[in-house]
Amino acid sequence: MLNIALPKGRLGMKVYDMLADIGYECPEILSDNRKLIFENEKNGVRYLLVKPTDVPIYVEYGAADIGVAGKDVILEQEPDLYELLDLGFGKCRMCVAAPIGYREDPDRPLRVATKFPNIAKNYYMSKNREIEIIKLYGSIEIAPLTSLSDVIVDIVETGATLKENNLEVIESILQISARLIANKALCNFKSQEIERIVGMLRSRSRFE
Ligand code: PRP
Repeated sequence: MLNIALPKGRLGMKVYDMLADIGYECPEILSDNRKLIFENEKNGVRYLLVKPTDVPIYVEYGAADIGVAGKDVILEQEPDLYELLDLGFGKCRMCVAAPIGYREDPDRPLRVATKFPNIAKNYYMSKNREIEIIKLYGSIEIAPLTSLSDVIVDIVETGATLKENNLEVIESILQISARLIANKALCNFKSQEIERIVGMLRSRSRFE
């Protein structure tokens, strides 16, 4: 049985469609219910629907053999696992954003609100800039508009959230996309099956 951790939501369903196409079909997953584990014994697959930020944890601890997570989540958590493939979708950017017209005061630490404290710390460390992190869990855009922070470090996909809140990108930190990840020990144990999946997904993701 191959255990696959999928991020709940649109991205997870897109990955499911790809896996179903290469032999890991489990139609029950498409039914509109509150179940979180779906199994198809005939195809030898079990899907776990987990919160996107929890996918690397399930994979690192071996509760799932493989999974799909955003590069942002992987960089933030630095889990001990294999990153097997860039799936080429779920693309966005990690950026620094601020209110339009913002001018930085270089004489004091920069106050940075973010859901990604490690990515933010590493970025500003590389620039030798002293910062103070304000860890938030969502709606980060409100922080600089209420003087909770000077800037935010956050994901920008379409840019609509920034625009509608009178913020703008001032620096681009890195490009993000969905990655296929695998547990280290289980990946060796089930290497043939996982290699086959990587091969087939690689040829598909070229067309994304
Ligand atoms: C993410 C991110 C931005 C928004 C960017 O938030 O934190 O707020 O999406 O997307 P856009 O550039 O297409 O507007 P999410 O939807 O995950 O909600 P959250 O703020 O509650 O975490």
